[in-house]
Amino acid sequence: MSPPFYITTPIYYVNARPHLGHAYTTICADVINRYHRMVADDTFFLTGTDEHGDKIMRAAKKESITPREYVNKISSLFRDLWPQLNIENDHFIRTTDPDHMAVVTQVLQKIYDQGDIYFHEYEGKYCFGCERFYTDRELVDGRCPDHETEPETIKESNYFFKMSKYQQWLIDYIKDNPDLIRPERYKNEVLAFLREPLEDLCISRPKSRIKWGINLPFDPDYVTYVWFDALINYISAIGYPEGEKFKRYWPVAQHIVAKDILKPHGIYWPIMLKAAGLPIYKHLNVHGYWNVDESKMSKTIGNVVEPLQLKNVYGLDAFRFFLMRDMVFGLDSSFNEEALVQRINSDLANDLGNLFSRVITMAHKYFKGVVPVMDASVEKEFSLGLSDKAAQSIADYQKAMENFAFHRAMGAIWDLISQMNKYIDVTTPWVLAKSKASRQQLEVVIYNLLEGLRVVAGMIYPVMPETATTMIKHLGLDAEQSFYKISLVKAWKSLTPGIQLPKSITLFPRIELKKKETAEAMETSENALEPPLKPEITIDDFGAIDLRVATVVKAEAIPRAKKLIKLEVDVGEPQYRTLVAGIAASYSPEAMVGKQVVVVANLKPAKLMGIRSQGMVLAASNDSGTIVLSLDKPMPPGTPVR
Ligand code: MSP
Repeated sequence: MSPPFYITTPIYYVNARPHLGHAYTTICADVINRYHRMVADDTFFLTGTDEHGDKIMRAAKKESITPREYVNKISSLFRDLWPQLNIENDHFIRTTDPDHMAVVTQVLQKIYDQGDIYFHEYEGKYCFGCERFYTDRELVDGRCPDHETEPETIKESNYFFKMSKYQQWLIDYIKDNPDLIRPERYKNEVLAFLREPLEDLCISRPKSRIKWGINLPFDPDYVTYVWFDALINYISAIGYPEGEKFKRYWPVAQHIVAKDILKPHGIYWPIMLKAAGLPIYKHLNVHGYWNVDESKMSKTIGNVVEPLQLKNVYGLDAFRFFLMRDMVFGLDSSFNEEALVQRINSDLANDLGNLFSRVITMAHKYFKGVVPVMDASVEKEFSLGLSDKAAQSIADYQKAMENFAFHRAMGAIWDLISQMNKYIDVTTPWVLAKSKASRQQLEVVIYNLLEGLRVVAGMIYPVMPETATTMIKHLGLDAEQSFYKISLVKAWKSLTPGIQLPKSITLFPRIELKKKETAEAMETSENALEPPLKPEITIDDFGAIDLRVATVVKAEAIPRAKKLIKLEVDVGEPQYRTLVAGIAASYSPEAMVGKQVVVVANLKPAKLMGIRSQGMVLAASNDSGTIVLSLDKPMPPGTPVR
């Protein structure tokens, strides 16, 4: 049986909508999971949402709905987003799932029965934003380091988990397993933290303050601290304690988290596992933070990057590639759209895209698109060791992937791409094509290049599955057969001579081409304005129209109304608005979710197909379709448009 592989993401809080940071972690998990499918492991990939606690309760209150309604709504935004980013998780856990709640109760009872949980009156400084007490040492100038607010002094009786008892054990365990927490800088950070005495963890919250949580099995007046509840998802989701999946996958578990939650994963969680008598996870893989133009992404600053918007503008594979190529796993990165465009143009349109179309076009030009046979008498001399270079690139790629060094794995693929370009320059197929005498040499060159493309397609599969599939189809292979399995990728000379290849296509169009097209379209329409201009208005007339930026949160088709889509949009108000837009001929409902549009926010509501539409989406429209106006950079919902 194939070796097991188990990967998890953090379960995301449902107090905010998914953004670039969540998408990055989840795409990393998807890439590593696909890579392990590639090396023929039996994989399990878990993600989900963290739905209890004070934060969630307050967010629900702000929207005047019950916590349950609220968590259902936001959780589904996460759940629905992942397939749109080609993320293939095997399970989506919610901490409000009854199975999960039962496991939390069971683990708490076990640890309580063995005497590792005790009751104690405590006075401490509590940050409501973080939902936890802070020691004076942890505060910065007396303020919470995350929220920069002064914590409140709270006195209450609570249950505590004896973490201090396990401190030395954890230090020894981390030292004995040097790659438990990686990259190394984060292991060192945890060890540095453990040099100071570890305080016991308060694992309860009195119901007088918080009701939205899992009851403590040994005291009905308390609910469980949200982190104690959340961490257990990694075992409850796979059927702790007796489930087959638990037995199979838990011994090889690997987590991916960002540095913000290193402490709960590097300290609380291993100690909880030890106390519960369970083996510790195999690796904790920690990545850095995506900032936006050097500052932290935050709703208040209004620089939150919406993953769907980027996907819609630049294409999914390009977006996934950029994230994997531009961030060094473990370090922080700064996101900006120019860098994204530059990457697409240089690495994807130029290097990969050009090589692909160049080779397929040559195969058509010189061999009518039929995969040539290599003649043994000239094969070695004219291959110039390209298969060895491919083997080296695969080896470097695998080594990088095993270490979560995604940017280096991409580098290894691009090394092969540049070797292939050099191979073309050196062998000059266009010269070989001029003479019948060099026909056999030309066959070797083109066959080798097609093989190189096949290897590249296999290696890009975890990051760009759609592009890999397109390439494989254009190499005349069956994309349904797992072409990405590493044993197949490595098998040089797998292409069957004699197979007819489809015509070449453009894998990645250059980005500024689109702008050029728009400019040309504008030029031609300048002379004949249709329909004619309306009568002049004053600036005051225009000022009466309240235009606002809105983010589409939900979109659905309207039965019996072919042209209309029902949208739920965030206009920065406490409640989302419902709008009906006549855009169904040009957009599917899925394509609208996550888009930022401009709406007339003070238009008198009107009923369309029985739905009350509170405003109107701006769109450009002619005979060929209706295109909504969107923003070329994200802005906070509710921003005025003037
Ligand atoms: N609910 C907890 C996790 C419990 S796991 C048992 C939580 N949720 S969260 O919604 O705040 O998600 C934090 C995680 O989201 C980070 O660890 C990271 O995976 C991802 N990111 C959120 N913002 C990010 C960036 N700006 N950059 C990179 N990743 C970020 O903490």
